Amino acid sequence: MPVQDRISYAPLRDRLMSAPQAAQLIKAGATVGMSGFTGAGYPKVLPQAIADVARAEHAAGHDYKINVWTGASTAPECDGVLAEARAINQRLPFNTDRIMRQEINNGDVNFIDIHLSQVAQTAAFGFLGHMDVAIIEIVGITADGLLIPSTAIGNNQTWLDLADKVILEINTAMPMQMEGMHDIDLNAAIPPHRTPIAMTRADDRIGQPYMKVDPNKIVAIVETHAADRDNVFSEPDDNSKKIAAYIVDFLSHEIKMGRLPKEMLPIQSGVGNVANAVLAGLLDSPFEQLYGYTEVLQDGMLDLVRAGKMTTASATAISLSAKAFQDFIDNIGFYREHIVLRPQEISNHPELVRRLGIIAMNSMIEADIYGNINSTHVMGTSMMNGIGGSGDFARNGYLTFFVTPSVAKNGSISCIVPMVSHVDHTEHDTQIIVTEQGLADLRGLAPRQRAKVIIEKCAHPDYRDLLQDYYDRALKGTHGIHTPHILPEALSWHQRYLDTGSMKK
Ligand code: COA
Repeated sequence: MPVQDRISYAPLRDRLMSAPQAAQLIKAGATVGMSGFTGAGYPKVLPQAIADVARAEHAAGHDYKINVWTGASTAPECDGVLAEARAINQRLPFNTDRIMRQEINNGDVNFIDIHLSQVAQTAAFGFLGHMDVAIIEIVGITADGLLIPSTAIGNNQTWLDLADKVILEINTAMPMQMEGMHDIDLNAAIPPHRTPIAMTRADDRIGQPYMKVDPNKIVAIVETHAADRDNVFSEPDDNSKKIAAYIVDFLSHEIKMGRLPKEMLPIQSGVGNVANAVLAGLLDSPFEQLYGYTEVLQDGMLDLVRAGKMTTASATAISLSAKAFQDFIDNIGFYREHIVLRPQEISNHPELVRRLGIIAMNSMIEADIYGNINSTHVMGTSMMNGIGGSGDFARNGYLTFFVTPSVAKNGSISCIVPMVSHVDHTEHDTQIIVTEQGLADLRGLAPRQRAKVIIEKCAHPDYRDLLQDYYDRALKGTHGIHTPHILPEALSWHQRYLDTGSMKK
């Protein structure tokens, strides 16, 4: 279908232009709100055109950098090209692109890592400054001038509300039949005018399937025809399968003990290979009629929907491998009935996560012997991706799991350490830690009891004695033993890794 036919609101047809023309509208220093969430629904051609403008400006001896706010991560053709052209000053709230990560960690990009549920409101409160332009991928425009969202909603409606000018990328590779899959509350208010969010089930709908914008703000419409990033997952390895099996057993046990309803509770699953493997584990589990209430719908969750194991999956983005995306397109009529895409403010909302009783499962970089979790920083100082929505779900979930293989980098790093080198989730937010070694249920345990269970159940055998030795000496030698630590030694494992390439002694 030609792009003109996707613009049913005739007055907007004359705003069609090329990406290089539209990029000229983005001035140096601008704050740009882009669509995009976990490699889905991000602008595909404007970022390259902006990168070209930046290069030309730099060659002419001028400064050219912009601030980019999104829903979450994008892809090489968005974050990657902008980072490569050194076109970014400030970036928020999440990134997985390798080149952007380098720019963040070498100090060239000011990266702000924000709980994903809080980004829209933080911007709407005015805490982040002014937004000049929004660049939003959509699949089409209705006869009433409403926007049909693409594979990610993220913060798009907020960006459309806040920005002075709007550039739309209409992606003709995305099926028009997605119309109806989204649910957007157009009346989001800020305090003191907020009212309770009228949802009591994961599949409730409270808004319209469209986004809304003042047509006068739309300064350009650009055509794209490109798929989202191919979010390939590795086949679940033995460790991931073991982690998944521990979780499924644990959930069955909780149902048996009457602590979890027989029909289960909605499931949230974080990003990454391990999280995807846990979902694969649920496919072979005894659970039926599951609900997903998560931020990203990955291959594993689509499999559950297709198999009829999951009745409805609610998310803010669909982030699939190319193969799974083809299945999504081929069976769009079926999936539209079983998937709801919402703004990330709603998909990750603490009020809803607590009300619905979400079972939260997120991967981490490392945990310490008391249950503090580092999700973001490698060796305490280098940003990996960001906190994402893990905090939104972890603190407010009914059950909160953090999972990781017990070791990284061929065993030279223990993912269970005396003290985490950065804290994203405190011991107060962590209920259950799972590695391929076992599952530590920390509910109702005080710090010294937690240390015993985490070392016994989760640490790799290569590091178990070292951790026990640290704990025993801390218990004898510290001033207060509520949470025993030997302060000069607490981060020595990380230092040893940096000095020698291994945490082993
Ligand atoms: N120290 C140093 N590096 C570590 C590490 C540790 N303790 N643990 C893992 N890593 C490295 C791995 O070696 C791997 O490196 P590589 O890319 O060079 O191979 C990388 O981190 C990813 O590890 P992997 O085991 O493949 O995990 P993953 O793909 O499941 O990702 C996180 C794990 C923590 C990085 C990822 O889940 C994340 O960014 N989480 C934070 C955001 C979040 O939870 N979002 C979901 C909310 S809904």
